[in-house]
Amino acid sequence: MSLSMQGKSVIVTGATSGIGWVTARELARKGARVILVGRSSAKLSTVAEQIKNQTSNPLVETICADLSTRAGVQFAAHEYKKRHTRLDVLVNNAGAIFMKREQNPDGVEMTFALNHLNYFHLTILLLDLLKATAPARIVNVSSDAHRGQVIDFKNLQGEKEYSGFSAYGRSKLMNLLFSMELSRRLQGTGVTVNALHPGFVASEFGKNNGKFVSLVMRVMSPIARSVEDGASTSIYLASSIEVEGVSGQYFTDKKPVIPDSAALNSVTAQRLWDISLEHIA
Ligand SMILES: NC(=O)c1ccc[n+]([C@@H]2O[C@H](COP(=O)([O-])OP(=O)(O)OC[C@H]3O[C@@H](n4cnc5c(N)ncnc54)[C@H](OP(=O)(O)O)[C@@H]3O)[C@@H](O)[C@H]2O)c1
Repeated sequence: MSLSMQGKSVIVTGATSGIGWVTARELARKGARVILVGRSSAKLSTVAEQIKNQTSNPLVETICADLSTRAGVQFAAHEYKKRHTRLDVLVNNAGAIFMKREQNPDGVEMTFALNHLNYFHLTILLLDLLKATAPARIVNVSSDAHRGQVIDFKNLQGEKEYSGFSAYGRSKLMNLLFSMELSRRLQGTGVTVNALHPGFVASEFGKNNGKFVSLVMRVMSPIARSVEDGASTSIYLASSIEVEGVSGQYFTDKKPVIPDSAALNSVTAQRLWDISLEHIA
């Protein structure tokens, strides 16, 4: 067993199930101190114990925070900084699809809040620590669902019309626009940022939407890959020496791929950045 991540501290958001769970477990297996962020304290305790038992690594901690809210993200970052003085890897992974338009307590549409603002806000709050720890890495779990999407700044939160699939695809395009813009801004700091598509994965994804979506996921499950396969590119980007210094790329199956041209539009990326900053101010 390689302990290549020994001495490194890693945050994995959405670590209570699916891709995040396996990513956290495998980084713990490589010796990292892993901080699991999730919204259920019961699930977090169970998963932390499972990871400690399965990896024999006692350095597994939890932070319970609802990352769909501004206060939740602030709490997660604050709590981490209270406990630690270094951060080597931030894996932004927590995400969901919302088939019906919902708003968080801040009045922000849930897909935009959880899938985009959470990644953006948590990263901004932890950037000083990542820079101080550099070389450091940010890994953003996006999706090929971004392909064919466009950002409509007049309908950013589905105010005019809402479709769960489109809102989800656009939020995953935002993950890429954010990653590309952040990579430009981080040049020369020693902090890298990359995004990835995990493939179609048999996780708990979609199950927050009731029986119909659960049924669709179950019917599709024979063609889905395992969570182990789904987590492999996140683990690779978080830990492999092969991607040391690599930044601003989109990966699938541990290989760089070209994202949709919409993800490479720096004007859109900057505009999204400015709007996102207003949301977290
Ligand atoms: N599955 C796929 O086919 C697929 C494909 C492409 C991209 N992705 C992306 O992969 C990432 C992980 O998804 P997954 O497939 O592993 O789904 P999953 O099994 O549903 O896991 C999602 C994780 O996010 C957490 N989460 C959800 N809402 C949260 C909130 N408000 N605050 C904090 N944590 C929250 C969940 O916590 P709970 O355990 O409490 O629900 C869970 O730990 C997502 O970004 C998704 O968009 C998935």
